[in-house]
Amino acid sequence: MNTALQPAARATKLLAAMSLTDKLALLTGVDPAGALGVTDGPIYVGYVPGNPQLCLPALTLNDGPAGVGDTQVGTTAFPAPIAQAATWDPQLQQAFGQALGLEAWQKGINVVLAPDVNIARVPENGRNFEAFGEDPFLSGQTAVAEIEGIQQNPVIATVKHFAVNSQETNRYYVSSNVDDRTLHEIYLPPFEAAVRQGHVGAVMCAYGLVNATFSCQNQPLLTTVLRQQFGFPGIVMSDWGATWSTVASANAGLDLSMPVGTFFGPALASAVTSGAVSTQTIDGMARSIVTTMFRLGLFDRPPPPRDSAVSADVSSLADQRVALRLAEESTVLLKNTSGTLPLNLGAGASIAVIGAPAGFGDVTPYIGGRGSAFVNPTDPVTPLQALTARAAKAGETVVSADGSDPTAAAAVAAHATVAVVFAYDHEQEGRDRTTLALSAGQDQLIEQVAQANPRTIVVLDTGGPVLMPWVDQVGAVVEAWYPGQRDGDAIAAILFGDVNPSGRLPQTFPTSDASVPASTPDQWPGSNDAQDAEFTEGLQVGYRWYDRQKIAPLFPFGYGLSYTQFSYSHLRVFRTGSRVSVTFTVKNTGSRSGAEVAQLYVDDPIVAGEPPKQLEGYQRLFLRPRRSARVTITLTQRSFADWNSATSKWAVTPGLYRILVGSSSRDIRLRGFLRQR
Ligand code: NOJ
Repeated sequence: MNTALQPAARATKLLAAMSLTDKLALLTGVDPAGALGVTDGPIYVGYVPGNPQLCLPALTLNDGPAGVGDTQVGTTAFPAPIAQAATWDPQLQQAFGQALGLEAWQKGINVVLAPDVNIARVPENGRNFEAFGEDPFLSGQTAVAEIEGIQQNPVIATVKHFAVNSQETNRYYVSSNVDDRTLHEIYLPPFEAAVRQGHVGAVMCAYGLVNATFSCQNQPLLTTVLRQQFGFPGIVMSDWGATWSTVASANAGLDLSMPVGTFFGPALASAVTSGAVSTQTIDGMARSIVTTMFRLGLFDRPPPPRDSAVSADVSSLADQRVALRLAEESTVLLKNTSGTLPLNLGAGASIAVIGAPAGFGDVTPYIGGRGSAFVNPTDPVTPLQALTARAAKAGETVVSADGSDPTAAAAVAAHATVAVVFAYDHEQEGRDRTTLALSAGQDQLIEQVAQANPRTIVVLDTGGPVLMPWVDQVGAVVEAWYPGQRDGDAIAAILFGDVNPSGRLPQTFPTSDASVPASTPDQWPGSNDAQDAEFTEGLQVGYRWYDRQKIAPLFPFGYGLSYTQFSYSHLRVFRTGSRVSVTFTVKNTGSRSGAEVAQLYVDDPIVAGEPPKQLEGYQRLFLRPRRSARVTITLTQRSFADWNSATSKWAVTPGLYRILVGSSSRDIRLRGFLRQR
């Protein structure tokens, strides 16, 4: 407990005082309720008992990516991670992480099971909402910001699920069969960023297999990549029930088996006795855990015990403000015909608010995705409540229909000045969507309302892409994702123009179920009854595929409209030592303040064999009308490098690289060049 010593030195002293039994006890979870004698009420989702004689605190583990979830109450339901990524705002994401970590700690939790950085390979993935979309760079930077925020508290963040956890169909047993280059260029970089840049404390290995080996006993992934290439010194923990062996897992690099020790515990003790797992290996496993606990302050700043924390309301006004800002900044304006939005109707006008997610019945399914990332909201504000209040301020009224009867809803819409229809999809851990179409007659509802009132606005509460057969019939479309508990406040601010929309798609929206990169059954859900998912699309994931195939999506990656306009000019590309600086000017040419997300893509020389363009930098900037700003984005050699599987190294192919700067992946405004020798 000498805080003057470095974490490694403290770990060494502690390990010297620990018996083999003490160490083995640290390598497996136990049933939290049983260990703590809890018969009802909220309880952590994972628990590793402490050892008071050794001053070793318990590990109390809990989800997750959209706030402190599982069974906990009195915490803030933040927008889903796909929304967090849509802000392209690392500062705000860091504030979210900080709030999440603090709420967790106040609830007695010292390990948060977030963020999830699995790449959105398949938009039907039931957990699409739970991660940061289809681009490795955006996912990595969003994760780094969140981890930095979480770990400002004495709390360990856990980046998950390592690796290539891309679908829910047959999720325990599907093998993701992916080539080495694609693995390194698409699926691993967010984990690498979390480790090297974010200094994440823990990595969770995934359900399922990668190239025919279970993730939690995958030596190439856990040792060669994670420990050796990335230099990860922290905790490798299994997903819940993702450990499938004793000797192979321990020797491959797994430290902690969760939630209980079926394969560790006594089985691991026998493996040590037989010599199949060495005592040095056990020491290494225990060292990873205690060093991380020392480094992140778990010994020195323990959280309050469950008894005092379990019923506390820790959702502070500051946290709710972060939830609101995330919801506002993440909302993407997809379509806006001739000024349908912002609403500027004038006193006496009426707004028809339609659809279940507006606030009819149980609204909790529409503010967050289901499964371990779900958070029980405290005081959710529905769109119906917030729009009614905001309309009243403008002298306008709200009429409503729950949307269960499209004809009745259309009749309400026909007499209103405008109609706002809320639609949703149902994403859930444990099962994939079978189609990207909206469920349960929602297309018909939108079409009938749009026929009755040409000024129809569709608000989507979805965790990812959906199909929009009605898109040409409506005036505006707004993607609000799963917006968390400040749902209503955020959408009212966007629709009325109190906040100028600035979210950008972190994922391509396709035109049909068939026009997606993984469109054959062998790719998804996989051949032999989803035993083998063949990643034959290789590097062509998300926009990389649409660009390569020259297929126009419904809405492209990086896309999002504003109530103002921005111009781009004066691109300069120059070297500063080993780095490359890209500078340009962005100007707000419209009449409203707003934020732009300037995006930088690199187009490699053809011989490199890379997709047509890849995101390597971005900058979100807020500009008042007629103001401009000079943006600088710094690239490193890695921004230009490809993974060479023969040498297992990153290398830059000599040739001419194009630097593309613009407002979306399909709206490039400036082009420059850089020659690499
Ligand atoms: C399984 C999920 O895959 C993982 O993300 C989560 O952290 C654990 N369950 C614990 O809830």
